[in-house]
Amino acid sequence: MNDANIEFYRRIGASKLQELAALQGLAQTPEIPLLMPIIKDAQLLVEIGAGYGRIVKGLKNNGFQGKVVAQERCPELCQVLRQDCNGDAEIFEADIKRQQYPQKPDVLLWMWSGILEFTPEEQQSVIQSLFGHLQKGGILVIEIPREIRYVGKPIDERKIVVDTEWGRLDAYLPSEGELLTYGAKAGFAHHQTIHYQTDTGLKRSMYVFEKK
Ligand SMILES: C[S@@+](CC[C@H](N)C(=O)[O-])C[C@H]1O[C@@H](n2cnc3c(N)ncnc32)[C@H](O)[C@@H]1O
Repeated sequence: MNDANIEFYRRIGASKLQELAALQGLAQTPEIPLLMPIIKDAQLLVEIGAGYGRIVKGLKNNGFQGKVVAQERCPELCQVLRQDCNGDAEIFEADIKRQQYPQKPDVLLWMWSGILEFTPEEQQSVIQSLFGHLQKGGILVIEIPREIRYVGKPIDERKIVVDTEWGRLDAYLPSEGELLTYGAKAGFAHHQTIHYQTDTGLKRSMYVFEKK
């Protein structure tokens, strides 16, 4: 599923992606101030699937001081990141399913439903490999929606499709039980869950896992 979803991002373009972020109330990164108490002392933070740089800019605007690596596999979005985030992040063009970090990060952020673009088997397998990549004592943040509104259509309780004129994205929304099981199986301790509402009132959650 994740391999097929790349076409959606190759065609969407940064401005459409920005529009979707705005619709969902995420344009102004309401998540970052909530995360700052947990991530503020990190030396090396990697964002998985950095898109057009929304989180990179949010980190900068909230005074994050550590080094930021923006990982993205879509070549067109990497181009945007190189133009717009030059100086604020190192751009790492790589697929999360097939890469190694040269240096172990102490924070991994997987924001704005990134995990949903993978099947349950892929979700478990990526979380397992992220555990290996992290520093001991490091944290992994996984952000997911608790309701589907504005963007995407539920097909059943867990499957979602985003069907647009530029392409289709298939998604799987893990339940809280599934997410906590992925984390525990990979070896993570569940540190906390942050429930929040976006600027357009969407209910979303961030699961914070720790590699003890
Ligand atoms: C919904 S966007 C989120 C963008 C950004 N994290 C944010 O919060 O604004 C998901 C991003 O993950 C990227 N992505 C999807 N699968 C990926 C993979 N296997 N490896 C790296 N990036 C991936 C997509 O290209 C897209 O830019």
